[in-house]
Amino acid sequence: MAQTRITDHKKEEIRDAADIVDVVSDYVKLKKAGGAFTGLCPFHNERTPSFYVTPRLGIFKCFGCGEGGDVFNFVMKMEGVGFVEAMRSLAGRYNIELPEEESSESADAQTQLVEGIYHALRFAGVYYHQTLAAEDSAAAARDYIGRRGLTAATTRKWGVGYAPDAFDAFYKHALSSGINETYLHEAGLIKYSEQNQQVYDTFRGRLMFPIFSPSGKVIGFGGRIMEGGKGPKYINSPQTKVYNKSEVIYGIHMARNEIRKHDQSILVEGYMDVISLWQHGVTNVVATSGTSITPEQMRRLANYSPNLLMVYDADNAGQNAMLRGLDVALQAGLHVRLMHLPDGEDPDSFVQQFGAESFINYTRKEAKDFISFMVQHAEDKGEWDDPMSRKQVVSRILASIARVSDQVLRETLIGHLRKMTGIGERALYAELGSLAAAVRQEEARAIDRERRAQQREMQGGAPHPAEGQFQNPGSGGASAPAGAGVPRTRPVQVRRPAAEKEIIRLMIEHGDGMIYYVGNLIGPDYFTDPELRQFYEAITACYEQEIPATIEHFTAMEPPFPRLVSEVFIEQFAVSEVGNAKRSRSILRDTDPYATARGAVKSLALQYLSQQIEQVNQQLSYAGEDERSELYRSITELRKTRLQIEKSHADALYPAPDEMP
Ligand code: GTP
Ligand code: MN
Repeated sequence: MAQTRITDHKKEEIRDAADIVDVVSDYVKLKKAGGAFTGLCPFHNERTPSFYVTPRLGIFKCFGCGEGGDVFNFVMKMEGVGFVEAMRSLAGRYNIELPEEESSESADAQTQLVEGIYHALRFAGVYYHQTLAAEDSAAAARDYIGRRGLTAATTRKWGVGYAPDAFDAFYKHALSSGINETYLHEAGLIKYSEQNQQVYDTFRGRLMFPIFSPSGKVIGFGGRIMEGGKGPKYINSPQTKVYNKSEVIYGIHMARNEIRKHDQSILVEGYMDVISLWQHGVTNVVATSGTSITPEQMRRLANYSPNLLMVYDADNAGQNAMLRGLDVALQAGLHVRLMHLPDGEDPDSFVQQFGAESFINYTRKEAKDFISFMVQHAEDKGEWDDPMSRKQVVSRILASIARVSDQVLRETLIGHLRKMTGIGERALYAELGSLAAAVRQEEARAIDRERRAQQREMQGGAPHPAEGQFQNPGSGGASAPAGAGVPRTRPVQVRRPAAEKEIIRLMIEHGDGMIYYVGNLIGPDYFTDPELRQFYEAITACYEQEIPATIEHFTAMEPPFPRLVSEVFIEQFAVSEVGNAKRSRSILRDTDPYATARGAVKSLALQYLSQQIEQVNQQLSYAGEDERSELYRSITELRKTRLQIEKSHADALYPAPDEMP
């Protein structure tokens, strides 16, 4: 009982010390509105703010989704922890001492699990760091760190560590220190071998970069291979209850206040780039960790500042990744500038050689708005002089402008593009119109998907870790929520176009030759299913980077890939098992996989054209008198093409692989 009294007292002490505006600001960009602050709700997806923080009352409330509560509730919801852990986190932040003992008996199993995971991760962080600092086994790693120019202070600040090159050294140490095996496994720190149920460390012989939440908790690791080591250059923690790759931004715990101060974030590719820039005093810098840029990451970054400078490696892979990320950033409403470093450099090598001042100067001189950047990029590649390829570049730029939802900004950008190209405004707007319609459609589909996912969650999907605490009596606890009979683990079944799945399957099953072949016939735009499109892009990205695009590769990647893999491969198999006839047909079908590919490409092309026709139809409904005849003409054209494709055999439409350029 004494425990509870201390807790109550401490709770009020922490509440008094904690500034709810400050705490919420870690996640939400707040604007003052009278006595309150408002911003975009972090608990649901919205475009206009309905989320309010009232410092006088110490509460937050979203009038869109209904979430609300005090500063403890906010931390619990945001970090997915229970009350005790939320209190601990706030106490740490405001330097209030807490008794070590935890009263965890009240915490439900889920909350306890999450807290156990955090504990295991913190323990691992300390272990790797101390190993690097002091163990003989880490001599080479220390050497390497030194050669990379990281100081001891930097290493400490970023918790850089070393995982010894041993089968289960960490596991044994953790067990003997009383860490529960379940937590180690749920934290992604250990794995079970399939054959003989042996336990081994996830990270072996790697330089360890802890990944932190905005409030500075370890949520995962990136492990870099040592020179001469085997395996991929980096491995990251698997997806866990506390580590969701698609929303994590590496370095945000250090950079968040700096980003606010400079009103700009600098986004780089690698862990080393972040740390190295930081060491040299460029502190508003972050990276994505082991994924391409996701919308959620960009939305989170936008909370701190609307201005983003992207500085990726000066190689092809880096530049392509940057241009792919650009669209995501634009769509999240960020004002993006891009910078190309001198050939062969990355931000790390640049700042190590020339120092922070040169880096800053370089950004002042070289960072460009994305239109100028893309034009420059095309000029460098000799694509600007040739009218055909120039046209493609302009289309590509328009496709990016179409992602910008702010109309004034969009018009400014068009004006800029017109000046750079001399192309008339009418022509630019005409193309932009159809591209923007496609983006809006895609957005509508995404929102729809999200809504369905939310509905499913409400109908008894996996509960959020923090649920069951601080809720109205009756909404949690023993009384079963509505729809509790619905199976819990089944993911949403989106019906995905069969031909799109087929293309993905072929590319993965038949590898480089097939990827090259398909890549020459279609582009990502042909995919109507956004996740399959993402899959297609990931496969072609592998191809460009000469990484084998295998089932194993995607199974080990962040969501949604493992799920997509199973949808494309396993489900198909499961269906086939229902009827043997179907199964044998699916095997027969691939006697000439390239012919199968042509068939699938044909249906994608048809679907693509139908979609285009639908889009022009939509444009018609709000087109002015003078534009209508033009739009009718293009509908007729599109229909004609569609008919031609429909009538022809796929083999006649597309060249065989040996006839390809
Ligand atoms: P250094 O080569 O030590 O300078 O590291 P870096 O962080 O600059 O790495 P690099 O530029 O090669 O890659 C940029 C980022 O891409 C890395 O920080 C990782 O997040 C990610 N990355 C690179 N290689 C791999 C890989 O093999 N697997 C995964 N999952 N991610 C990788
Ligand atoms: Mn590097």
